[in-house]
Amino acid sequence: MSKYQIATIEGDGIGPEVAQAAVRVLKEACGADTLHFEMLPGGADHYVQTGQVLPDDTYAACRQMDAILHGAAGVPGVVYPDGTEVGNDLHLRLRFELDLYANVRPIKLLPGVLSPLRAFDEGGIDYVIIRENTEGLYASRGAGVLLRDEFASDSLVITRKGTERVARFAFDLARRRRGAPRDGKSRVTVCDKANILRTYAFFRSVCDDVHRDYDDIEIDYAYADAITVHMLKRPDFYDVIVAENMFGDIISDLGAATVGGMGISPSGEIGDRYALFQGAHGSAPDIAGQNVASPIATILSGAMMLRWLGDTHGDTQASRHGDRIEAAVGRVLADRIAVPRDLGGEATCTEVTDAICKILANGESHA
Ligand code: IPM
Ligand code: MG
Repeated sequence: MSKYQIATIEGDGIGPEVAQAAVRVLKEACGADTLHFEMLPGGADHYVQTGQVLPDDTYAACRQMDAILHGAAGVPGVVYPDGTEVGNDLHLRLRFELDLYANVRPIKLLPGVLSPLRAFDEGGIDYVIIRENTEGLYASRGAGVLLRDEFASDSLVITRKGTERVARFAFDLARRRRGAPRDGKSRVTVCDKANILRTYAFFRSVCDDVHRDYDDIEIDYAYADAITVHMLKRPDFYDVIVAENMFGDIISDLGAATVGGMGISPSGEIGDRYALFQGAHGSAPDIAGQNVASPIATILSGAMMLRWLGDTHGDTQASRHGDRIEAAVGRVLADRIAVPRDLGGEATCTEVTDAICKILANGESHA
């Protein structure tokens, strides 16, 4: 396996705990001298101390290094005059300026995890939400209109370029997967509100244009309200879902809840040159510093990072280590070796991390 430099931003709340857990697991899986983790400042706490949520040196390091690993960011009450949260600008600046246009949100029911959707067990829910990550309703971040304390508006921005590339990412992913659990069909579901807004009708039409290059992949459509019902009643129908930014933000939390919650849900925010990996959860300030947060989402995000490095650099060993980490997490949960609180257990962040590292160290994780 090649050596890689990882820009590591622990951030706020539980961010340091879960990021440090992921670093431990990644070092255990890949060997201590393969990955160099450059610890970098950033987040709302840093903003309070220095006035910078994302220091220029941190941003520069993110551009220079091979990948970015992030814990979490955001502190309640640390907000701009317009009421929006400061901490989120760490993510949003990196997303917009590094052009991380595909926010990859796997929704996968792992061994040993009880879904609130009782009819489904391991492998019965296995799809990926591809959330467009640079425009949509988020394009207005900091640019909306606030008028005389009477009027506010934000704009929904859909571009052909932004939609084409995220749709192509979704179809390419569907081509690499094994299809939906229900029928094995390779399928991309376009999530929109094309029946109401011409922006979403445009989003859908661009996805249709891209689909012309993928006649081996089925295209499917679901309105954003309807898909929330389908994600609960027939989640096994889904293989890959592509959605505008805000819709993707919303449905990915719903999807996470069906496979164990935000504590187990990873994400990879991927562009053509850069990528950031973080749990899909927030900074959970209410449990910060108590060693009770689940590190699994960030550890699985680290596995996603290794697979992305593997794909990007043709490094099959990196990809295999990513698979080993996911398998080790599955073993720890399936055999209930160390189950975190949010999955019904009592294991601390440290105990979950220790258990995963032990399986990796003993070579018992066979991906
Ligand atoms: C997410 C989060 C972020 C978002 C926040 C933290 C900026 O909810 O990654 O899903 O709104 O995209
Ligand atoms: Mg979100």
